[in-house]
Amino acid sequence: MSMTGKTVIVTGAGKPDGIGRACADRFLQLGANVVICDLPDSDGISAAIEDYAGEQDRVSCIGADVGNPADAKTAVAEAIQKFGGIDILVNNAGVGAGSHDFMELTAKDWELSLTVNLMGQVNFCEAVIPEFLRRGSGVIVNISSLSGVGAISSIPACYTASKFAAVGLTKQLALQYAPNNIRVNAVCPGSVRTDMMRGAMELMAEQENISIDEAEALEASTIPMGRAATPVEIATSVSFLAGSDAGYLTGVALPVAGGMPPGV
Ligand SMILES: NC(=O)c1ccc[n+]([C@@H]2O[C@H](COP(=O)([O-])OP(=O)(O)OC[C@H]3O[C@@H](n4cnc5c(N)ncnc54)[C@H](O)[C@@H]3O)[C@@H](O)[C@H]2O)c1
Repeated sequence: MSMTGKTVIVTGAGKPDGIGRACADRFLQLGANVVICDLPDSDGISAAIEDYAGEQDRVSCIGADVGNPADAKTAVAEAIQKFGGIDILVNNAGVGAGSHDFMELTAKDWELSLTVNLMGQVNFCEAVIPEFLRRGSGVIVNISSLSGVGAISSIPACYTASKFAAVGLTKQLALQYAPNNIRVNAVCPGSVRTDMMRGAMELMAEQENISIDEAEALEASTIPMGRAATPVEIATSVSFLAGSDAGYLTGVALPVAGGMPPGV
């Protein structure tokens, strides 16, 4: 599958070990131009600027807070100005905040989760859809979670609610824009070896009074394939959904979870 000549925006793609970065690299490998977005003035965007300094003909790194609609518009304008348009949006930026105990969640936990995990995707969809309509085609891949299709007991309610909302957004946009040749799908990862998973393992170790290694072993024991995914294994599912091989797929929330069941 070649994506030469296509332009992709990936949000939250600065961090070298994250899923977003793996997606950016996958699209680059397939020949696409990529606009990498991450929080302004963050370690992530600084790392990306440094790592892609030699590839400025195909990569643009933009400081963009997904919670800010103006930043989403800036990222789309950059894609149009530098690469002549935008073909694919990957809404990857996400945060995990708060306790698994509902009554311990703060207003800040709820606000952060919904602002980044839901409104971040809404803001970027609002920014790209007019351009997709003008061009007569487009693809959106929203990164939700296995927690977006079923509740898992160790996960904060604000995260689960925001990831269910991302799946709802995906399905509604898929329906509305199918006649416009715009496909919208979600990828729902289970456990993936990134900083976010390390944070979750630290939390689990503290809650269960066990070591981080023991927490990781406990987590792996819940996955039929016996291990967490690599970020690249998520990125290849994202590029599949974004590509022409998935040309008749829309409104799908695809679990990429090594057989892990989604909970209730
Ligand atoms: N790691 C997992 O096990 C796992 C499982 C299911 C779903 N996910 C989802 O996959 C996506 C990527 O997760 P990850 O594990 O790579 O996490 P990560 O924490 O390693 O990376 C998240 C990235 O999003 C960026 N980000 C956070 N807030 C932002 C904002 N307001 N604006 C722009 N960028 C912002 C961060 O700077 C970072 O680069 C997230 O949506 C996450 O919820 C991860």
